[in-house]
Amino acid sequence: MEKVFSGIQPTGEIHIGNYVGAVRHWVKLTETYDCIFCVVDYHAITVEYPLEEMRKRVLETAIVLLACGLSPEKCKIFVQSHVQEHTELAWIFNCVTPIGDLERMTQFKDKSKQHRANINIGLMDYPVLQAADILIYKAGFVPVGEDQVQHVELCREVARKFNYRFGEHFPEPRVILSVAPRILGVDGTGKMSKTMQNYIGILEDEATMWEKVRTAVTDVNRVRRKDTGNPDICNIYTIHRAFSGDDVLDEAAKGCRSASIGCIDCKKMLFKNMWEELAPVQNRAKDLLANQDYVMDVLREGARSCSTIAKQTMQEVREALGLLI
Ligand code: TYM
Repeated sequence: MEKVFSGIQPTGEIHIGNYVGAVRHWVKLTETYDCIFCVVDYHAITVEYPLEEMRKRVLETAIVLLACGLSPEKCKIFVQSHVQEHTELAWIFNCVTPIGDLERMTQFKDKSKQHRANINIGLMDYPVLQAADILIYKAGFVPVGEDQVQHVELCREVARKFNYRFGEHFPEPRVILSVAPRILGVDGTGKMSKTMQNYIGILEDEATMWEKVRTAVTDVNRVRRKDTGNPDICNIYTIHRAFSGDDVLDEAAKGCRSASIGCIDCKKMLFKNMWEELAPVQNRAKDLLANQDYVMDVLREGARSCSTIAKQTMQEVREALGLLI
């Protein structure tokens, strides 16, 4: 089976962008690929965070992955810092990655603006560690949202540079996008993200979630109820696409274009489907929260079996570098 690797940061609540752009898609891929999924805690320390929160966030992120349907029988799930070879390989990749390639990364530029007081090397080096995450397992496919495509391209470049200098050792991985690779935030303009407080968390209670959907920006040109709208430029319709079936989508699109339904009607249709899908995820998350020993066992077993692969790759890499071993 072909290998898939992907990761998610433990930066607080997982939002519906992460869910439909990545995690829900990962669950499907476990049917046909040999999959490894990782909670990337070392990536998360590139920005300031409350120290006392980190452990809880890592565990909660793992819980959400399991609650969304990832099963340790069908894939490996682990925490990045539990497999130390990721950072070791990142160092080696640092030595084949031009600084200029990292400076032009969109995410680095955005984060440098957001965290002016702490533009650290880790923030710039973030995609190199990401390349190490993927390549240490020689994964050929990386399921991510659209915002990560540039990082996977850099990963391909790193693999190419390494192979050119030290011999063919790594594949050039390809992105796999989900059906909803780019969900905008509730303001309808920026990408849905945790840092911008512009998100709908998948564990939020029904009332809070509805309030966010109810007040979310739609097609800005549709000002009055009687105005016709354009689903193609409406973020609510994009989210609809991720949660609703063809009939509902058709009804919503026709109703919007003819103004026979208002945005609130469209949002009600969406929310019904969203909540139907997310309520069981929330219930499973509650059960897992009460069963953290099980979650720790899954993570330890994931790290154990990933370590075996990672150690082999590092051995091969050290030999390729001509080191004394
Ligand atoms: P993170 O935690 O920021 O995002 C996790 C996944 O969610 C996707 N995503 C979205 N998809 C659609 N719409 C959105 N608004 C949205 N916001 C986030 C992201 O594209 C991502 O797939 N750098 C990675 C973590 C990582 C990684 C890796 C991924 C570290 N090492 C190796 C793949 C392979 C990230 O951005 O995580």
